[in-house]
Amino acid sequence: MAKIELLGAVLLTVMLLPFSSTALTQDFCVADMNGGDTPTGYICRAPATVTSGDFSYHGLARPGTLIRPFNVSLASAFVGQFPAVNGLGISATRVDLLPGGVVPLHTHPAGSELLFVLEGSLSAGFISAESNSVYIQTVNKGDLFVFPQGLLHFQYNVGNTTAVALAAYSSSNPGLQIVDYALFRNRLPTAVVNKVTFISEAEVTRLKALFAGSG
Ligand SMILES: *[C@@H]1O[C@H](CO)[C@@H](O)[C@H](O)[C@H]1NC(C)=O
Ligand SMILES: *[C@@H]1O[C@H](CO)[C@@H](O)[C@H](O)[C@H]1NC(C)=O
Repeated sequence: MAKIELLGAVLLTVMLLPFSSTALTQDFCVADMNGGDTPTGYICRAPATVTSGDFSYHGLARPGTLIRPFNVSLASAFVGQFPAVNGLGISATRVDLLPGGVVPLHTHPAGSELLFVLEGSLSAGFISAESNSVYIQTVNKGDLFVFPQGLLHFQYNVGNTTAVALAAYSSSNPGLQIVDYALFRNRLPTAVVNKVTFISEAEVTRLKALFAGSG
C-alpha cells in the first residue's frame, strides 16, 4: 500500500514538473536588452531597477506602419518592444487591414497564435504540415481563431471597412517568416527560385520587382 502511495506521489510530481519548473521560481524577468538574446530568452534586469511602467506598453494604441503591397499595419509587443514579457511565454500584435488588405502566408516558428477580431471581417486560415489540409474560416467582430504553432497561415480583409484584430502568441518572441519575402525579397537567383518552386522565371522576375528582391 505504502509503495503504491509513494509511486502515486512520484508520478504526480513528475506530471506537475513541466508546469512548475519555469513558473514561480521568480516573479518576473524583465529583459535586459543590452544582454543579448539566448535560446532561453534575455537575462533579467535587477528587480530593484524595475518599475510599474515597465509592465505597461502603449505601442498598440494606434496602427503600426503600413506595409505595402499588403495594405496591412502591424504593431507588435514582442519582447523586443515590451521587455516585460520576457520569459512569460506571451506577446501580442495589433493588426489593421485596409479593405482588400492581407497578412500574407507566414509562420511564427516559436508560438501558437490566437486572433481576436475587434472590428470588421476577416478570412483566416492555416495549412497543416502533416497532410497539407486547409482550415479556413470567415471570422467577424468578436470571433477568435487559433493558429497552431509553426504552421503556415494567413488573414485577409473580406469586408469593406478596415478590419482590426489583436493577435496573442504563446511566446514572448514568436518569430515571423513571410513566404513572399523568403522567396522574392532577397538575392536568391531567379533561376534557383524557379528551380525550387516551379514558378516560372518571368513570374519570379515580376515578384522580385514587387518585393524589392535582386538576382
Ligand atoms: C492596396 O492599396 C492600394 C491603394 O492604396 C491599392 O491600389 C492596392 O490594390 C491595395 N492592395 C491590396 C492587396 O489590397
Ligand atoms: C461591399 O460593398 C459592395 C458594394 O457597395 C457590396 O456589394 C458588398 O455587399 C459589400 N460587402 C460587404 C461584406 O459589406
